[in-house]
Amino acid sequence: MTTGATVWLTGLPSAGKTTIAYELAGRLRAEGHRVEVLDGDEIREFISAGLGFSREDRHTNVQRIGFVAELLARNGVLALVPVIAPYQDSREAVRKRHQTNGTAYVEIHVATPVEVCSERDVKGLYAKQAAGELKGLTGVDDPYEAPESPDLRIESQNQTVQESAASVYALLSERGLA
Ligand SMILES: Nc1ncnc2c1ncn2[C@@H]1O[C@H](COP(=O)(O)OP(=O)(O)OP(=O)(O)O)[C@@H](O)[C@H]1O
Ligand SMILES: [Mg+2]
Repeated sequence: MTTGATVWLTGLPSAGKTTIAYELAGRLRAEGHRVEVLDGDEIREFISAGLGFSREDRHTNVQRIGFVAELLARNGVLALVPVIAPYQDSREAVRKRHQTNGTAYVEIHVATPVEVCSERDVKGLYAKQAAGELKGLTGVDDPYEAPESPDLRIESQNQTVQESAASVYALLSERGLA
């Protein structure tokens, strides 16, 4: 039986959250850990179907994901959550829910600068925003409140995916969670 935890990866679109989460998940699973990845896009298709991208809906989305992650983590799963979560108060509420239940919670800021993210533009969102086809892109014309004191900050522009995942792994290991 392993100790569960929620590992939230917050950051801008194309920062590398999903990529790091799956890289880390592979490594953790290979060691026998139970792992689930709660990815933002997939969640929006199901649990958060019908929610949009207003401040209120983004908050609700993050609270729902936090609720599910805590349930999993409380039951020994490492719940990896690569979700933008742009608002400080939304993230704090999730952290509090974990604290109240005595469940481990780790916040990782994937702090890739917007210039690098918009260059990567994995989903073409930055291009769409620039062309006026999309409004409310986090970090461009919608807020992103960067965490002031995350458990770990990753500069993905200066390292490989493997190095980024390894740094999260090292932190989990240090805390007795992996
Ligand atoms: N060190 C690194 N860590 C993570 N991704 C990296 C790194 N270096 C380069 N990349 C590349 O950056 C891109 C990140 O895309 P990814 O889909 O993971 O971003 P995301 O943060 O999940 O974005 P979104 O919020 O839109 O889902 C990938 O193409 C990945 O290969
Ligand atoms: Mg993603």
